[in-house]
Amino acid sequence: MSAISIENLTKTYRGKRGAKVDALKELTLEIEAGEVFGFLGPNGAGKSTAIKTLMGLISPTSGSATILGKDITTPDARRSVGFLPENPSFYDYLSAEEYLVFVGKTFAMSGPELKEKTASVLNRLDLWEARKRPMRSYSKGMVQRVGIAQVLVHDPDVYILDEPMSGLDPLGRTLVKEIIKELRERGKTVFFSTHITADVELICDRVGILVAGALQTVRPVQEILAAGVVGYQVKAKDIPQELFSYYNADSQAEWLSVPKADLGPVMARLQAAGSTVELVEPQRKDLEAFFLDIVAHSQA
Ligand SMILES: Nc1ncnc2c1ncn2[C@@H]1O[C@H](COP(=O)(O)OP(=O)(O)O)[C@@H](O)[C@H]1O
Ligand SMILES: [Mg+2]
Repeated sequence: MSAISIENLTKTYRGKRGAKVDALKELTLEIEAGEVFGFLGPNGAGKSTAIKTLMGLISPTSGSATILGKDITTPDARRSVGFLPENPSFYDYLSAEEYLVFVGKTFAMSGPELKEKTASVLNRLDLWEARKRPMRSYSKGMVQRVGIAQVLVHDPDVYILDEPMSGLDPLGRTLVKEIIKELRERGKTVFFSTHITADVELICDRVGILVAGALQTVRPVQEILAAGVVGYQVKAKDIPQELFSYYNADSQAEWLSVPKADLGPVMARLQAAGSTVELVEPQRKDLEAFFLDIVAHSQA
């Protein structure tokens, strides 16, 4: 069974004077249990619309979805979900600790279990020192970290996170990435949106790219990175003269710049000439380039 199954989900907003906005167009997507899925798209692509629909905060114009087999129109679907909204804001007269206790109680937690879990989550998100201060005194990054903390308290199996790294400094971003990696190691399912490719590269199993409400592609991240290899830098000793044309203008001696298709023949000639190959480094077109390419060529 898929963790999240989305079928032809469509949302048309009715704007001012009857103007229509097709924010989400026939989104069909399966998120496997145990995978980390990056939902990548530029601002205004429809990511938050999709996530709010999954969470039952807005109703779709058409289409359907299930979470762990349960229809999103039923409250049951959200019982095993940790949800981070975009721009989270909390009852800011509460402290982070009071808020996490409140969240735990809504999920029927209590006693030592709740106390321990709250303490460990506050520590993990670097909120321990500030735990007793009202959240109105928190910085934007601290509020975002409370947002992450509150999804972890009840230890759900599925995480739906809208831009979890937004508003965080580099340390905070790294922390959230580590937490997502830990969730994957524990077999949890994470579906998160972002408009930043670097957030996806190191932690996602698959990425889906949404542009103007339409899903353009869904690919394993490793596959994109492997397909992005455009050539190789080859370091070798005693390079035969016939390969000198592969020296590029600014390379030091011993380094050849070899296009992808030439690698086989070049390696064969190095071997035949008795050269010692010391290093072969792939040169990639990265995920950012792939993403920009998709956005530029999307037919939305
Ligand atoms: N309540 C709303 N009423 C009208 N249009 C909306 C509403 N919410 C979002 N939109 C529009 O829908 C599109 C998708 O928005 P959103 O889902 O927030 O994108 P993302 O999260 O990818 O930045 C945008 O064009 C946005 O302006
Ligand atoms: Mg958004």
